[in-house]
Amino acid sequence: MPMSSAQFSPLERNPATGELFLRLPSPHSTIILTPPRPSDAAAIAVIVNDPAVHPWLGRPNDIFTLEEAQALVSEYTRASSAVIYALEESTALEGTITSATPSVQCEQLVPVADCPVRSIRELQADGTDVYIGNIAFKRCNWHEVQSPERDQLIAANNARPTGDPEIVWQVSDFLAPTHHRRGLMTVILATVLKQWAISRMRVHHLHVSVFTGNTGSVRVFEKNGFVLSGTVEHCIEIRGEMRSLHVLDWKHVE
Ligand SMILES: CC(C)(COP(=O)(O)OP(=O)(O)OC[C@H]1O[C@@H](n2cnc3c(N)ncnc32)[C@H](O)[C@@H]1OP(=O)(O)O)[C@@H](O)C(=O)NCCC(=O)NCCS
Repeated sequence: MPMSSAQFSPLERNPATGELFLRLPSPHSTIILTPPRPSDAAAIAVIVNDPAVHPWLGRPNDIFTLEEAQALVSEYTRASSAVIYALEESTALEGTITSATPSVQCEQLVPVADCPVRSIRELQADGTDVYIGNIAFKRCNWHEVQSPERDQLIAANNARPTGDPEIVWQVSDFLAPTHHRRGLMTVILATVLKQWAISRMRVHHLHVSVFTGNTGSVRVFEKNGFVLSGTVEHCIEIRGEMRSLHVLDWKHVE
């Protein structure tokens, strides 16, 4: 298990398993975020296929298969592991810094490309936990923009180096219907944004699109300071149907 370090703050470690986690503030402290686990795939498949979730995610097929869920978990795991590796490398480097090294270097936190915790879990009374959803920050995809402008925006954004505050980000999230409308995603987004994304990924601009009719998602973003900048009608084809998107932006204020 790697040594503890300021580089991992404010993530904590499960003393029994060594797994990193981020806990929501009270009164939601039974909810934690951790790196993905292989077992998440089965739970993700159930949640994503639920009629309260599936219409809002823009998946290309009517059924989200277990194989697709496994591929998603593998992708999430690679991203999460890469960040954890970068944090461990920085921690090891701190250990080699000598007293001759300027102290400011010791205090610098490396910018990272992602948030290593994105699987949302509810702790149970018996100490186990249950997977209840996901939140991911990704470089923006501008779903509401048509190519070739869209391709140019994505290419320029992807060319920016890790930690560049000019990077435009988007957020993808979903929660098990059993846990909808308890105020959870509002707090989860606020927590990841304030505890990790702004300080560790240097996220300064978020640009998200939400299918029209998804009032809950729009409200989660608005309650976190996002501003609705417009609605683009019939801009994206999902399973043979042209759908419209609300577009919202959030900018970091120093
Ligand atoms: C969108 C989603 C993540 C919201 O999570 P949540 O934890 O249920 O949201 P919250 O409880 O924090 O609710 C935030 C606000 O939205 C409102 N809200 C939530 N769901 C709503 C719904 N279905 N209809 C109307 N309002 C809704 C809440 O009342 C609350 O508003 P208020 O404080 O003004 O009363 C969740 O509904 C979900 O997983 N949906 C399916 C997947 C999805 O849409 N993902 C986002 C894709 S862009």
